[in-house]
Amino acid sequence: MALIKEIDYGTPASKAERKVSLTIDGFRVTAPDGTSIMRAAMAAGIEIPKLCATDSEHGFGSCRLCLVEIKGRPGTPASCTTPVSEGMEVSTQTEHLKRIRKGVMELYISDHPLECLTCAANGDCELQDMAGAVGLREVRYGYEGENHLKAEKDESNPYFSFDPAKCIVCSRCVRACDEVQGTFALTIEHRGFDSKVAASMNEPFLDSECVSCGACVQACPTATLIEKSVIAIGQPEHSVVTTCGYCGVGCSFKAEMRGVELVRMVPFKAGQANHGHSCVKGRFAWGYATHRDRILKPMIRACITHPWREVSWEEAIAHAASEFKRIQQKYGRGAVGGITSSRCTNEETYLVQKLVRAAFGNNNVDTCARVCHSPTGYGLKTTFGTSAGTQDFDSIEQADVIVVIGANPTDGHPVFASRIKQRLRQGARLIVIDPRRIDMVKTPHAQASFHLPLKPGTNVAVLTALAHVVVTEGLVDKAFVDERCEGFAEWAAFVAEKRNSPEEVEKLSGVPAEAIRGAARLYATGGNGAIYYGLGVTEHSQGTTAVMAIANLAMATGNIGRPGVGVNPLRGQNNVQGSCDMGSFPHEFPGYRHVSEDAVRETFASLWGTPLDPEPGLRIPNMLDAALDGSFKGLYIQGEDIAQSDPDSRHVMAGLSAMECVVVHDLFLNETANFAHVFLPGSTFLEKDGTFTNAERRINMVRKVMAPRNGYADWEITQLLANAMGFQMAYAHPSAIMDEIAATTPTFAGVSYEKLDALGSVQWPCNDKAPMGSPIMHVGGFVRGKGRFVVTEYVPTDEKTGPRFPLLLTTGRILSQYNVGAQTRRTENVVWHEEDRLEMHPHDAEQRGIREGDWVSLASRSGATALRATITDRVAPGVVYTTFHHPDTQANVVTTDYSDWATNCPEYKVTAVQVMPANGPSEWQRDYEELSRHARRVAAEVAE
Ligand code: SF4
Ligand code: SF4
Ligand code: SF4
Ligand code: FES
Repeated sequence: MALIKEIDYGTPASKAERKVSLTIDGFRVTAPDGTSIMRAAMAAGIEIPKLCATDSEHGFGSCRLCLVEIKGRPGTPASCTTPVSEGMEVSTQTEHLKRIRKGVMELYISDHPLECLTCAANGDCELQDMAGAVGLREVRYGYEGENHLKAEKDESNPYFSFDPAKCIVCSRCVRACDEVQGTFALTIEHRGFDSKVAASMNEPFLDSECVSCGACVQACPTATLIEKSVIAIGQPEHSVVTTCGYCGVGCSFKAEMRGVELVRMVPFKAGQANHGHSCVKGRFAWGYATHRDRILKPMIRACITHPWREVSWEEAIAHAASEFKRIQQKYGRGAVGGITSSRCTNEETYLVQKLVRAAFGNNNVDTCARVCHSPTGYGLKTTFGTSAGTQDFDSIEQADVIVVIGANPTDGHPVFASRIKQRLRQGARLIVIDPRRIDMVKTPHAQASFHLPLKPGTNVAVLTALAHVVVTEGLVDKAFVDERCEGFAEWAAFVAEKRNSPEEVEKLSGVPAEAIRGAARLYATGGNGAIYYGLGVTEHSQGTTAVMAIANLAMATGNIGRPGVGVNPLRGQNNVQGSCDMGSFPHEFPGYRHVSEDAVRETFASLWGTPLDPEPGLRIPNMLDAALDGSFKGLYIQGEDIAQSDPDSRHVMAGLSAMECVVVHDLFLNETANFAHVFLPGSTFLEKDGTFTNAERRINMVRKVMAPRNGYADWEITQLLANAMGFQMAYAHPSAIMDEIAATTPTFAGVSYEKLDALGSVQWPCNDKAPMGSPIMHVGGFVRGKGRFVVTEYVPTDEKTGPRFPLLLTTGRILSQYNVGAQTRRTENVVWHEEDRLEMHPHDAEQRGIREGDWVSLASRSGATALRATITDRVAPGVVYTTFHHPDTQANVVTTDYSDWATNCPEYKVTAVQVMPANGPSEWQRDYEELSRHARRVAAEVAE
């Protein structure tokens, strides 16, 4: 394996269709109009020296190293800022140019530390390379004069250091932060010799607005901004392209290694989801893979009050299998089940559902998507015919009006948020529908045209009011609706009713009617309208209704079936789309086909050589209820921490405690493992081959970077368990699992590892009709035939505020942490978020005598916890907000058992609560901490 080096063309590609021809150093070259001479030359294999140019940023023209001569033009223009033109004759290597370049380099080097041999960037430094390229052999000016060599380092950021002594003030970092990331955290302060890079108001990076995306580090041509891991470990020697294991954006990275050690993750420019950008999680937060908390040996125990006992893999697998068989013999075939993981690969998820259906002989399989995007599946399938988003991310480049509903992209989907911000800076308009004033409402150089700060739980009413305006003000795209949809008349009559008008909805949602009217008019008439939504839409008792209301709006305005429009769920976890696609739900085989469909069942039954149950199995909440009833006794949980992530934690824990064999297959002893009898150590995304499917249905390759420290990749462990259960699986490699998926699932029929390697990735459906995949869906017609309008009656949630619980709690996530925090809490990311905090409005805080940082109790009818308060007007009066990344907080002790009417997706986003001053953690938290400490004992440690 070699180190993958991507070509840097110096400036971005031009999207112009017209081509121009020119000659460069006598060679005839053709390039799209608007291409820089530098890029056209590089594409033809002619490398022009450069320092301030890189192809993720627009040409800047400051270093004067890339000068060229153009026949018939005076002077020596910079090739990075001069576009090609027809018939141009360019020379890049005349004696005159060589002299100028050498002079420029001499000046740079005269103010640069001469410590190349001991510099961490030695071998990967563009300044060093350019000194060689221009043939610099000596510096005539000496090093004694005024210089910057004693400038102080900034080591405040946990992941990268900033050494201004090595800075050449090329501004690449500043432009990366502006153009690529959109945070505008950096500036060049002062002028001339005094000019220097400053973060925010000349603060340490850690205290500045910097969000640690790493774009500036990647852009820096010197060792000024450099990863601390490179300083510690040394320059990488070989690399593998793989996919981020965190969120549903699905960024591609080069995992760069030195020996068997991971040195850094560098965003891959050819990555089709991220185009070379990253966020702090994928770029830097991979240290959990080698964290000391990771469990590497299997463990078992007879009872959850006993300490764990380390055993061999053979013993652990045999024990789990015999326990499942014993339970089935005693309590019946349906007494066991499995939970698949949205963090594991498609292949691993497929195997878990196969294990349950074929080896357990029932359909008791469910996934964590139950608690996030199951309403998306149901809602979009009902209206459009497919349980997935309609666009690729690149579609945003053609959107004119962007609607973000119940999502917080700058924290949850940061790399896509940067794309949105780029588009806004180009002039697109933004509508945000969210109870909180999320960062997207006002970002540098862009601001939402409308922010509708609705009361939690009123999504359906507000979405229907938007439709009311579209219908009653004559803004419907009639041609689109007539040709492509059904059910319009009934729906239009419903939304036009007065009770659905913005004026009526204002009374229950708190959103001014004029804002609803303005937003509806903008979406319907502002050009291409694209909707992106998140868990703020789905995690409600009417989650599915809200998804259908969004689909209705898009159909009524004709915003479906072409670039720049569409309905797009922003998926939370890396493979939540894939885990749904792979048949993780109890009623569906892979490809969303119902288990009662005889032909589909027969396909799998004949291939797997066993009869399959035609009855849907139990969903997670039903499994827990059945456990408490005594009819469900055994559960295999792969990569999922239901004790922390699922609602009403005490109910979940009671259900788990009532089971006889809980098998947790994970990286760490998570909260669920407190109630487990068998622990099977899991592998990280760095330790296996497979695929993840991101929010745009893109199937990305996950490639093994290092050997599994626990001994096996997760798919191998499931296979061992299936074999021990007496159901034979004999896959030699995940590619064979993908071949089986392709053979059984029509939307994946054209997918193979060979194709993924060749194309980089494909978006499903990928089959005979679309052999190269489908970036955009419902072009020319909906998957279900006609798009179906569905009446979306607003039914207020039963969760009501009252004198006991007067505030509404809503939950979300933060940039530096991920989901239950199991991975990110075990990285340096904790410097940004070491605890969950409760955001509350100053008015509510003052009423209760609560000040910034005070401990408060947060109580609902389900339970109570305590955490510290942050006072902010980001939330409206009457609304409080917290994250759920830390088990010490256990925010889900407070959330209720209400759920979506169609899918049981929990209503995390609306809980009536009371907040009062407290002295510290609650009694429950203290008891739970004691339980965890006890439950995590390992026999060897106990004996010592
Ligand atoms: S820190 Fe790096 S990228 Fe930024 S101006 Fe200095 S040398 Fe250029
Ligand atoms: S890490 Fe990202 S946000 Fe921070 S200064 Fe660099 S480019 Fe800007
Ligand atoms: S945006 Fe998501 S996929 Fe991309 S690097 Fe960040 S966490 Fe990973
Ligand atoms: S690379 Fe063109 S002026 Fe610096």
